[in-house]
Amino acid sequence: MKTVGIVLAGGSGTRLYPMSAAMSKQLQPVYDKPMIYYPLAALMLAEIRDILIISTPHDLPHFERLLGDGAQWGISLKYAVQPRPGGLAEAFLVGRDFIGNRQVCLILGDNIFYGKLDFLRHAIVANTGGYIFGYHVQDPERYGVVEFDADRNVIGIEEKPISPKSNYAIPGLYVFTPDVVQIAETLAPGARGELEITDVQKAYLAQQRLRVELLGRGIAWLDTGTPESLFEASSFIHAIEKRQGMKIACLEEIALTRQFLSKDEYLESISRLPNSPYKKYCTAVYDEFTAHSISAQQQNIAR
Ligand code: G1P
Repeated sequence: MKTVGIVLAGGSGTRLYPMSAAMSKQLQPVYDKPMIYYPLAALMLAEIRDILIISTPHDLPHFERLLGDGAQWGISLKYAVQPRPGGLAEAFLVGRDFIGNRQVCLILGDNIFYGKLDFLRHAIVANTGGYIFGYHVQDPERYGVVEFDADRNVIGIEEKPISPKSNYAIPGLYVFTPDVVQIAETLAPGARGELEITDVQKAYLAQQRLRVELLGRGIAWLDTGTPESLFEASSFIHAIEKRQGMKIACLEEIALTRQFLSKDEYLESISRLPNSPYKKYCTAVYDEFTAHSISAQQQNIAR
């Protein structure tokens, strides 16, 4: 089944005030890129190329200006407004026509994943209902939390429980079959007055169609909701990029290496970037990529 992506970049980001007063949280820098580049990278790495960005009426034009129609990365970006903060599950109502009869992967615009991200591609292929993840954290009460029985079967999901039944928080990355739209239609607002994504998960759990995969230590799931966690996420990205001389979530690079763009399209795309260290990096990526593909071809001939 074809899978589309939704990046939900709404919310008021009040915990980041005054940084969020004029600029949406998901446009804030995480070291050297706007935050939304990271969830977009996660979707692209899972081969998702049809993506809907949902944001507030005020912020949506800024996302459009930053990201355009996606052609520069060989993907298609569409935009839709969430008029009021109605909850994460409302994304499926706002995105109803976009989803149609396709499977959907929802990622929150402020969730950053780092590491070997092929778990998402596996989830997309394996999903038959809802597919979510569990990630061990110190402070599960801040998130949706998974409850297990003695045999590690999932028996419950709770949104921000006062007494969490496990340390496994549910990251903002979900895969659902197209009937998620009908499920969202039946939901009533929860305690926050919003349509809760955990209620969608509970509906799939009740139908025995929910799969929860626990993510191991090799994956970093970073929070960016407070000044401190945003600063830590930036330091994390900085430390790795500096050490390796490679960028994390460079969308041009992903488009080239995943062959969303041909080499010529890539060159054309980066020729439009303003002169910047980012452009210089994209040029170096091209040189390395072509050197590798030439030597791979030569090796094939030699064999
Ligand atoms: C939301 C979800 C929660 C999930 C979290 C992940 O929380 O409601 O279940 O664990 O995202 O970031 P919120 O960001 O609305 O507090």
